[in-house]
Amino acid sequence: MIQPAQTDADLRYLNTLHLPARAARLQPVDDASDLPALTEAARNTGGSILVLGGGSNIVFGRDIDGTVLHMRTRGIDVLAHTGSDVLVSVAAGENWHAWVAFALAHGWHGLENLALIPGTVGAAPVQNIGAYGVELIDRLDHVDAWDMTGRRWLRLSAAECLAGYRDSVFKRELAGRAVITRVAFRLGTRPEVRCDYADLQRELSSRGVAQVTPQHVFDAVCAVRRAKLPDPAVLGNAGSFFRNPVLTADAAATLLAAHPDAAHHPAADGAVKFAAAWLIDQCGWKGARRGDAGVHDRQALVLVNHGEASATDLLDLAADIQASVHARFGVTLEPEPLILL
Ligand code: EPU
Repeated sequence: MIQPAQTDADLRYLNTLHLPARAARLQPVDDASDLPALTEAARNTGGSILVLGGGSNIVFGRDIDGTVLHMRTRGIDVLAHTGSDVLVSVAAGENWHAWVAFALAHGWHGLENLALIPGTVGAAPVQNIGAYGVELIDRLDHVDAWDMTGRRWLRLSAAECLAGYRDSVFKRELAGRAVITRVAFRLGTRPEVRCDYADLQRELSSRGVAQVTPQHVFDAVCAVRRAKLPDPAVLGNAGSFFRNPVLTADAAATLLAAHPDAAHHPAADGAVKFAAAWLIDQCGWKGARRGDAGVHDRQALVLVNHGEASATDLLDLAADIQASVHARFGVTLEPEPLILL
């Protein structure tokens, strides 16, 4: 049964930055097969349509004059077992971290490095979530979605998702068009671990782990994240507020000549990815606070809402951070979350 939409709904507790915003209509989606009818109804009622999962990568700079489709679908289904793989389809409304823990408990490996990322499974392909050396695309098989514009169901292979660094077709050609309903993962049934990320290695060796298992990786990732990243339930935030800038080999050489200690990693095609956190930190922003908008005191890439910050407060702070990083390093920082203005 379709739950009725709530009118003039408060969105403050549906976004992890806890920004005040309202929606003319908040429509729960508990069954993906209702989407054709629900999107038609939303269109007929008028105003914009926004698809919302856990609200962990969005900055509400305005109210929503139309309908927010709040994805709450549940379900984890094994589609196939092959020799050393399992193919599992997960409903968009499942909580990401709960799914990672569920997979680990079932002996399905490959997502441990992505533990504790806030948000829902359906949101994960949009920005190709990644952490500690693993990205969603490494384990993605396909995505099912409802195309609101073409009024048809889509199944996109991992290749068709065009997932790059914090990027995918859902941020580009299919933005505002595809409602992701299920995400299918290909996971290993034999233990395999990826633990070359420096922070992770440090944590594992401080625990004296000799033979690293997926459970060790999961525990270590949770510990590192808890030590550095604020829990949105306690302190409003949307994770990294900027993408790490990727510079051409030439631009990177110039930057490194002037700042040899700038934290960086090689990226594709000779490009170099710099740590935005380091650039921001060098400009003295870590722990800064302006009213209730602030920079986290343990990770300079994370902007926080200490209570009553507005989107304007946060975006003004973000703009000043961008300006100072640009003035000092000549590097332009791009925001990572979806900013609705
Ligand atoms: N650093 C500083 N100052 C700080 C924080 C970090 O100088 O305040 C330096 C560290 O020394 C380190 C480097 O910056 O050398 C990178 O820091 P970290 O390992 O914390 O990772 P990050 O590049 O800042 C990215 C992702 C995170 C993800 C971590 C771990 C982006 C935009 N962010 O952060 O993802 O958890 O790597 O893999 O790519 C998110 O997207 O919301 C997110 C939290």
